Amino acid sequence: MVFGVILAGGIGSRMGNVEKPKQFLMIGEKPILIHTIEKFYMHDAFEKLIVLCPRQWMEHTKNLVKKYFKEKADHVKVLEGGTSRNETIMNSIDYIEKEYGLDDDTIIVTHDSVRPFLTYRIIEENIKYAREYGACDTVIPATDTIVDSQDGKVISSVPDRAKMYQGQTPQSFGARKLKELYHSLTEEEKKILTDAAKIFVIKGEKVHLVEGEVFNIKITYPYDMRVAESLIQEQKEKK
Ligand code: CTP
Repeated sequence: MVFGVILAGGIGSRMGNVEKPKQFLMIGEKPILIHTIEKFYMHDAFEKLIVLCPRQWMEHTKNLVKKYFKEKADHVKVLEGGTSRNETIMNSIDYIEKEYGLDDDTIIVTHDSVRPFLTYRIIEENIKYAREYGACDTVIPATDTIVDSQDGKVISSVPDRAKMYQGQTPQSFGARKLKELYHSLTEEEKKILTDAAKIFVIKGEKVHLVEGEVFNIKITYPYDMRVAESLIQEQKEKK
C-alpha cells in the first residue's frame, strides 16, 4: 500500500508576522495546502492521503478538506503533527500501523505542504524508486556554488558543484524501515537531522535520487509568496 503524507505541522516562523501558518495562506484562489493535496489527488496509487497539522489547526484543516474535496473528502485523514518534522512523519506511520498494519510493501511519499508545484511525474518516480530501492529523495542539481564553512566566518572547503544537489520533496520510504532506523538513533543524532533522508544516510542505507523541478519551490519567506503567485497565474494562463 502507498500513502501520501503531507507535512503541515509547522508554524512558518520565517514567514514573519502573518495571521496563520503559511500552509493556510492563499495563492491564486485556494490555500497553499489545498493546491498541494490536489496534486496527490491526481494520482490513483494512494490508499489514503494523510495531512498532519498543528493541533489548533486541525478543525480548520478538516473544514478546508470538506469544502474543496466535498464527497471525496474521505480520502484524506487529518492528524496532529509532531514537535519536529520527523516526529510529524512518525505520527503518520503510527496511524498507518494502527489502521492498516506495516509490512515491507508499505510505502510513504512524504511531502512539504508548502511545495504546491510538484508534478505527477515526480510522484510517479518517487513511488517507483521507493518500491525498488526502499528510499528516495527528490533533488535538483545545485546552481549556486556551495561553500562549506565550519565556523561561519571563513571557507573550509568548496565542494565540486557538479556533485552537489539541492534537496526538495517528496522523500519516499518503506515505512517500517524508516520507523526502525529513526528509533535506533541517539538523541544527539536526532538533533542534527534536517530531513528524513538523512536518517537513512546516517545509518549507511542507500537513498536513490529522483529528478525534481526548479519550480518545485518551498514557500519559506514572504518573497516566495510572490514567486508562487506568479507561477499560479502562469499555470492559469496555460489552461
Ligand atoms: N513541518 C511539520 N511538522 C513540524 C515542522 C514542520 O509537518 N513539526 C512541515 C511544515 O509544515 C512544512 C514542511 O515541514 O510544510 C517544511 O518545513 P519548513 O519550511 O521549515 O516549515 P516551518 O517549520 O513551518 O517553517 P519555519 O522553519 O519558518 O518555522
